Amino acid sequence: MIRLVVDTDPGVDDAHAIMAAAAYPDARIEAVTTVKGNVSLERTTANACTILDVMGINAPIYAGCEQALVAESGGAEGFHGADGLGDSAYPPSPRKVEAEHAVHALIRLANAEPGALTLVALGPLTNLALALRLDPTLPRKYRRLVVMGGAIRSMGNTTLTAEFNFHADPEAAAIILRDWTPLTLVSWETTVEHPFSEAQVKALLAHNSPRAEFLRRISQGALTFLEHLFGRPTMLEPDLLAMAAALEPEIVRRKATHHVAVELSGALTRGQTCVDWYGMSGKQPNVELALEMNTERVWELLQAALI
Ligand code: BDR
Ligand code: CA
Repeated sequence: MIRLVVDTDPGVDDAHAIMAAAAYPDARIEAVTTVKGNVSLERTTANACTILDVMGINAPIYAGCEQALVAESGGAEGFHGADGLGDSAYPPSPRKVEAEHAVHALIRLANAEPGALTLVALGPLTNLALALRLDPTLPRKYRRLVVMGGAIRSMGNTTLTAEFNFHADPEAAAIILRDWTPLTLVSWETTVEHPFSEAQVKALLAHNSPRAEFLRRISQGALTFLEHLFGRPTMLEPDLLAMAAALEPEIVRRKATHHVAVELSGALTRGQTCVDWYGMSGKQPNVELALEMNTERVWELLQAALI
């Protein structure tokens, strides 16, 4: 049984990832921690409640940081909708959020059962970085950390060179990459190289269930956005890929371990992911990069959540 803690900023693809995890027979979502990212903390927390409602999951939700560690950053409403869930207008969830701060929950949960929990980070790394500063032993106490973030070949989706989650809180990303070893990273380039095909998108949308209806309503804006961009129906699933790598490590068909750091001060490149592809720095490899993944299996994981 994979026991998950999900740190997230839902987010359409965060929702897909949580849905797949909730439906996965051999996993249990033990807690969800939220962070400001795609939309405000208030909205990401409300959205996490809605997603768990739709999936009928009874896990506690802890609200975390409402700002990045150092500099303010914008959201991704242009892609995820003003509400973060495709402007799907689901009524507010009656679910109660826990009083404990997400950062304290991340520390408490790991210390209560060292080695038991897998942490999957789907948003800016603000909560994780603060938690790590308060308890530097966390990397030994989580069984595994899988992160969605970074543009490993500097093909950014937010600036020319930076990916959204790392750009939203570069200091937090720098802290985690430097001090949380080992970790698995699913990057933006890996995401772009593993899209859902038109047939896969159609098949997902064709399901007839309340969960499929939720998926359709939250995803429509993102699908339209991507169709304009690529000229054909497709779906990119950064957070679902990261969740899939946590659920089934063999879904990653090719990986490589390199030293990776985050640029903090570049005039044009703040938040850039700097990978030592050729081992030139002499620094110890610290990040396992997921380079090739089994897209068909990833699709099956989401598909299974719609039944
Ligand atoms: C990441 O940024 C967010 O918009 C997505 O939810 C994903 O976590 C992709 O760059
Ligand atoms: Ca996300």
